[in-house]
Amino acid sequence: MQGAKRIGVLTSGGDAPGMNAAVRATALVGRALGAEVVGIERGYRGLLDDAFVPLAPADVAGILREGGTILGSARCKEFHQKEVRDRARAILAKRGIDGLVVIGGNGSLTGALKLADPAELGGQALLIAGVPASIDNDLGHTSRAIGVDTAMNTIVEACDKIADTATAHDRAFIVEVMGRDCGYLAMTSAIAVGADLALFPESQKTVPEIVDRIVAAVSRARVEKLRGRRVLIIKAEGVKISVDQLKAKVDAELRMRGDATAIETRVTVLGHVVRGGRPSAFDRLLASRLANVAVRALRAGTSGKMVAWMPVTELPLEIGIRSAHDPYCWLVDITAALAETDNLLAGKSPLSRWRAGAFDEIETAMLL
Ligand code: F6P
Repeated sequence: MQGAKRIGVLTSGGDAPGMNAAVRATALVGRALGAEVVGIERGYRGLLDDAFVPLAPADVAGILREGGTILGSARCKEFHQKEVRDRARAILAKRGIDGLVVIGGNGSLTGALKLADPAELGGQALLIAGVPASIDNDLGHTSRAIGVDTAMNTIVEACDKIADTATAHDRAFIVEVMGRDCGYLAMTSAIAVGADLALFPESQKTVPEIVDRIVAAVSRARVEKLRGRRVLIIKAEGVKISVDQLKAKVDAELRMRGDATAIETRVTVLGHVVRGGRPSAFDRLLASRLANVAVRALRAGTSGKMVAWMPVTELPLEIGIRSAHDPYCWLVDITAALAETDNLLAGKSPLSRWRAGAFDEIETAMLL
């Protein structure tokens, strides 16, 4: 298949810190590979409004460190209708766009797939590539989406602050974090802040079970009689009870047990705070690397792929075995690790050779 020559890029759905880094990498790598890259404002909505903007190197200078997305984003429910997608395809054809990088979550990638459905394209040349971006980390077949790391850091910072006041007053806090129907942010940040409990939809606990667990955590803190024993509970928004209702139920149960004044409960909803802020170094790197591969796929004539981020997956058995407790962790022979360290530092390991080679490949884009 012929590679894309004029590439459009859009950000769609809930914005995520790092989206700008992906836009920038799309513009710079596309240009370095001889393609013209243009931005589309406000996701599919902007596409329907024919809202195109140039993305020359000067337009993307300095955006790497900015949160949100310079292109703007939107949710576009109408895109589920074929007539609406026909309109979008006609605009892309008029603009001469034959490749599209879609940076967003599951709804955005569904839209991309439908837009480039061969049954609907009717011969129009349009290649699409998806770049996963959503603080929710709810996309399959990628270990990370753009924005998750920054969101997690924001939650940790907020919870550390809440912990200060909670500790000073011996209080129990229920902190709600975003994530839509996915508990990833709640689970991981609970570990990172040393929370007493994480409440997430995947556990499928009933409300009475949840209340029991919170009350048990609060009572345990009281029994331990530690001064400044704070209780921190991280609740995913996907757990379908509001923090206020939860607090009311927990307080009622504590009152029934005669514990009501022992530890006071308070609630905080972090809400959209979690979605903002400057992207972390990891999110900038992740976004740049995913977009680099997405553009290269389009230039090579590949379509319908999401660029996934997966940790190195396999090691030879004599070097290490995958942990039965965590698929991301391996038990590696220390001697083998040290020998490979020497290779790595001497530029002899496949990984260090790849690192050097990959840099050569993107150098042209970086120098633009
Ligand atoms: O998908 C990202 C997300 O921030 C979810 O965590 C949250 O449920 C939703 O978007 C909020 O959407 P909106 O900004 O439209 O209120």
